[in-house]
Amino acid sequence: MPDETTSSEIVVDPAPHAAWLPDGALAAAGRRRVAVVGPPDDEVLVTVRREAERATSAYGGAVVGPDDSPDILLEASSVLDSSSNGLNKDHVSTLDVESGFRIVRDGGRVTVTAATATALLHGWFHVVRLGETAFTGPDVDERHAPAFALRVLDHWDNVDVHPVMGQVERGYSGGSIFYADGRVRDDLSRVTAYARLLAATGVDRVCINNVNVHAREARLLTDDLPEVARVAAALRPYGVRTHLAVSFAAPMTLGGLTTSDPLDDDVRAWWRAAADRVWAAVPDFGGFVVKADSEGQPGPFAYGRDHADGANLLAEAVAPHDGVVHWRAFVYDHAQDWRDRSTDRARAAYDHFAPLDGRFADNVVVQVKHGPIDFQTREAVSPVLAGMPATRLALELQVTQEYTGQQRHACYLAPWWSENLGFRPWGESADGAAVRDVVAGRGPSAPAAVADAGGGGIAAVSNVGDDRFWTGHPLAQANLYAFGRLAWDPTLDPAAILDEWVGLTFAGPDGGVEPRVREALHAVLDDSWRTYESYTAPLGVGFMVRPGHHYGPDVDGYEYTPWGTYHFADRDGIGVDRTRATGTGFTGQYPAPWRDVYEDLATCPDELLLFFHHVPYTHVLRSGVTVVQHVYDTHFAGVERVREAVAAWESLADLVPGALPPDVDARVRERLAEQLRSAVEWRDQLNTYFFRKSGIPDAHGRTIH
Ligand code: GCU
Repeated sequence: MPDETTSSEIVVDPAPHAAWLPDGALAAAGRRRVAVVGPPDDEVLVTVRREAERATSAYGGAVVGPDDSPDILLEASSVLDSSSNGLNKDHVSTLDVESGFRIVRDGGRVTVTAATATALLHGWFHVVRLGETAFTGPDVDERHAPAFALRVLDHWDNVDVHPVMGQVERGYSGGSIFYADGRVRDDLSRVTAYARLLAATGVDRVCINNVNVHAREARLLTDDLPEVARVAAALRPYGVRTHLAVSFAAPMTLGGLTTSDPLDDDVRAWWRAAADRVWAAVPDFGGFVVKADSEGQPGPFAYGRDHADGANLLAEAVAPHDGVVHWRAFVYDHAQDWRDRSTDRARAAYDHFAPLDGRFADNVVVQVKHGPIDFQTREAVSPVLAGMPATRLALELQVTQEYTGQQRHACYLAPWWSENLGFRPWGESADGAAVRDVVAGRGPSAPAAVADAGGGGIAAVSNVGDDRFWTGHPLAQANLYAFGRLAWDPTLDPAAILDEWVGLTFAGPDGGVEPRVREALHAVLDDSWRTYESYTAPLGVGFMVRPGHHYGPDVDGYEYTPWGTYHFADRDGIGVDRTRATGTGFTGQYPAPWRDVYEDLATCPDELLLFFHHVPYTHVLRSGVTVVQHVYDTHFAGVERVREAVAAWESLADLVPGALPPDVDARVRERLAEQLRSAVEWRDQLNTYFFRKSGIPDAHGRTIH
C-alpha cells in the first residue's frame, strides 16, 4: 500500500501533522493573559514559557508578569515543598510531590503550581485539554498526579535498515524519527515535536532503540554516545528522558571480554564503566531495557545463571546514577516442537520469573507483556502480574498494531488496555486490587521498596515513524494519545479519552469541533477493537495471521511451526487445553478465583474459551450459540461493522475541505478501503476453514466458500 495519498488533487503538506496539538487546540488558553514563574534557567521552564507564547501569539492573549493580572498563572519553584504545592505531606508520595500539579480556579483565574518545571508543563497541557471549560464553572482546587512513576514508550527502531524487519521492527509508519542513513539524524526537530506530543499526554520516558539489539545498534552504548546525547537533548525540553536497549552480550561484542557471565568481576566492572560513560554523556539518562534469552537474544542462561542474576548485574551498574533497568519477562522457547503438546508457551514467563520474586534489585523493573503469549487481540491477563508481589512490575502494551491491523485497520485499543489495567487478579479479595494497582506498587503484600518506588509503571511499543501523520493511519494517533493518558490515569474512560483526542485533533481555528466529525469518529473508533476481534481469530485462540509479517489471515500459518502458537483445530473441535485437569496446567498459575473460573468450562468467559479449552465445534457458548455458529456470526457481522465505519466516514465528505483536511480524509479513506478488503478476506477464509473442517453449515444459510 502506498504511504502517501495517491490522489493527484490532494496537496500534501510536507510538515509533520500537528496530531493533537494543532493551533486550534490552544485557542482557549491562547486568548488569555499567561504568567510563567519559576527558575529562569530551567530548560523545561523555558519550554513552558515558549508554549505560552506560541498559544497567546496565535490567539491574541499575552505573556505577562505575575503581577499583571494574569488569567493563567503557572508557577514552578524548586523550593516548593509538598505543603506549598497544596498537598498534605503526610498523605502523599514523592511521586505526587515531584510529578503532580495543583490547579486552582478562583473567580475565573486559573493557577497551576508544581514542584518541577516538567510537572508544570503537564499542568499547562491539562489547561489546554480543558479548553474553555478551564475558565468557566464553579471554583475548583484539584491535585493531579500520575498513577505511575515510570511511563515509557519503547521504540523498536533500528539504526540500520534490518534486512527482514526494516528500519522500525513492527513499524507501520515509515522510517525512524531518530535514525536515517545508518546514523542518528542530523535534524532532530521531529524528535522534539514528538516529545511535545508526549508531554501533552503524560509520557515522560522513551527508549530509542529496538529490544532486538543488532550489532550496529549495540554501539549506541559506546561509540555513539555523543549521538545519543543529541537525541536526549532533543527530548529534554519537554521533560522526556532517554533510555537505551542494550545487549546482554555487550561485554564481549563491544568490550572484547571472553564472557558476559553476570557473576564475573570483569563483566561487572565493564558494565559499571559503560554506565558511567552513559551518564557522563547524558546526565538525566533513564536506564537500560533488556530482552535477554528471548527469540535469539543473548542472556544469562548461557552461563547457567538466571534472570535475577542478569538483571541485578545491570542494576548494580546503573544504581550510582539512580538509573533503572527494565528487564523483559518475554522469555519462552521459540524452537518448540509442534508435536509436543506438553510445552505451553503461555506458561513460560511465569515459570521462569515467579520463582525469582524477591531476588531483583530495587532498581529493576520486570516488564511483563499484558498477556502470556504475544500482544494478541484477546488474551488472558498474564499471571506474572499477580505472581511477583515483591518485584517492581511494569505492564507492557503494544501501541504499534502488529496483530491488530498494522495501522491499515482502524482499531482503537484503549478499551482493551483499560480491561487489562482494570483486571482484578484476586477477584474481590485483596481489596479488589487490579493490575493498575500492582504496577503502581500497590499490589497485595508489596514490600516497602516496591511501594515507595511506585512499582514499575507502564511501557508500550510506540506506533510512531517518520510518516507525515506520525502513525500511518491518522486515526491510529488516538492509540498513542490514549496510551499516554492511561499511563497518567489508568482509570480514565476510553470513550472519554477518545472524545478528548477528537476535541484537540480536529479543533478548528476557533477551538471548536464540528459535531458531525465527533460523532463519526466515535462511530468508527469506539468499538473498533471488538469489531477487529470479531472478524479475526475467534474466542481468544489468537494468531491465525500470516507468518513473519503478521498481516492478514492464515489459519494454519503457525500451526506446524516452532513458535508455540497453536490452535489444534481438527474435524471435531478447536482450542488449547490449558486446564490443570487434562491440559498444560496453565490455569494453575492464577490465584483464586481465576484459577477455577478459567478451569471450568461452565464459568470460563466466552471470549477466552479457546485460550483455555479445547472444545467441540458444537459446544454451546454461554451466549447460547455453538462455537462454529459463533465463528460464522461474528465474521459476517464484523464485515458489516466495517462497512458501517466506511459509511460513517463517507458521510463527512461535504466537510472536506473545512472541518476535515483533505489529506487526512484521503489517507483515512484509503485505509478504510483496505480494512474492508482485508476484513472480507478474514471472514471468507475463517468461515471456509471452519466449514470445511467441521462440515457444519451456517444456520442462516449465508455464503461460505
Ligand atoms: C513479537 C514481535 C517481535 C518482537 C517481540 C518482542 O514477537 O513479533 O518482532 O521482537 O514481540 O516483544 O520482543
